[in-house]
Amino acid sequence: MSIVYLNGDFIPAEQAKISPMDRGFLFGDGIYEVIPSYGGRFVGFAPHISRMQDGLAQLSIDPGLNLADWQAITHRLLAENNSSPNSANLAVYIQVSRGADTKRNHAFPANIRATVFAYTFAIAPEPVADKSQATCYTVVTGQDLRWQRCHIKSTSLLGNVLHYQQAYANGAQEILLFDKNGNLTEGAAVNVFVIKNGIIATPPLTNKLLPGITRLLLLNILRQHSNWRVEERDISEQEVFNADEIWLTSSSKEIAPVLKVNEHSVGTGEIGNVWLAAQQLFSAHKYDE
Ligand code: PDD
Repeated sequence: MSIVYLNGDFIPAEQAKISPMDRGFLFGDGIYEVIPSYGGRFVGFAPHISRMQDGLAQLSIDPGLNLADWQAITHRLLAENNSSPNSANLAVYIQVSRGADTKRNHAFPANIRATVFAYTFAIAPEPVADKSQATCYTVVTGQDLRWQRCHIKSTSLLGNVLHYQQAYANGAQEILLFDKNGNLTEGAAVNVFVIKNGIIATPPLTNKLLPGITRLLLLNILRQHSNWRVEERDISEQEVFNADEIWLTSSSKEIAPVLKVNEHSVGTGEIGNVWLAAQQLFSAHKYDE
């Protein structure tokens, strides 16, 4: 039976109850985080918590928990849920909402206590730098129709859900989104990298995309441990279609090669060598921070 954390208690999932007046339920008024762990080791723990604290501060939600508190909660959750053999690789999902009110009112209520929920779920084994084992993606493209605060990891995910469904309805597993100027933003649940002539480029951090932790770790690792040229800059639709390689990054995928965009092959149509080098470096250094 899985043990979850809810407002200070570690309890069986079946016993966890949240009020229907919770603003997370009524308004999507909250922040979430997903942190992967393999064999009990988290990847990017501090930057994940710091992004969550930034998001909470932007929404003026204060659950009163610091980095050490989050460490204690998440490590205990790993320990409580690590009894079965296939649970060695667990992600922790954390959600903090503004809390439950007595009535539905858009304005932030005074004296409300944040709802803090966290649970673990089993994830696939660590991605490996091996072309024969990589999970490859087919994507479609579309106009980014989400709101203008995509840098906040908000639980209001309807825009992302609709874009994700747009990909699935068209036989793809992700969507590459473009803003009204025709520049790449991100995917429905991933950041995007485009590689041409050995130059690795990704869109710069703005309000139009999530500051992904895998993106951050990958950029740091490439800059510290390789000679690949790395650029954070605007990327046009044409560049996407002319790319040698395209990668999707996220906590669960790490670096995933895209082989098809709207039925067009990316580069040679096979996994590229820059991907192999990048995933090797990522696997070697992802626990450094
Ligand atoms: N998705 N962009 C969006 C819109 C995302 O939802 C995610 C993550 C990312 C990649 O961020 P990171 O590298 O920090 O995982 C980019 C998570 C995992 C999710 O919603 O489940």
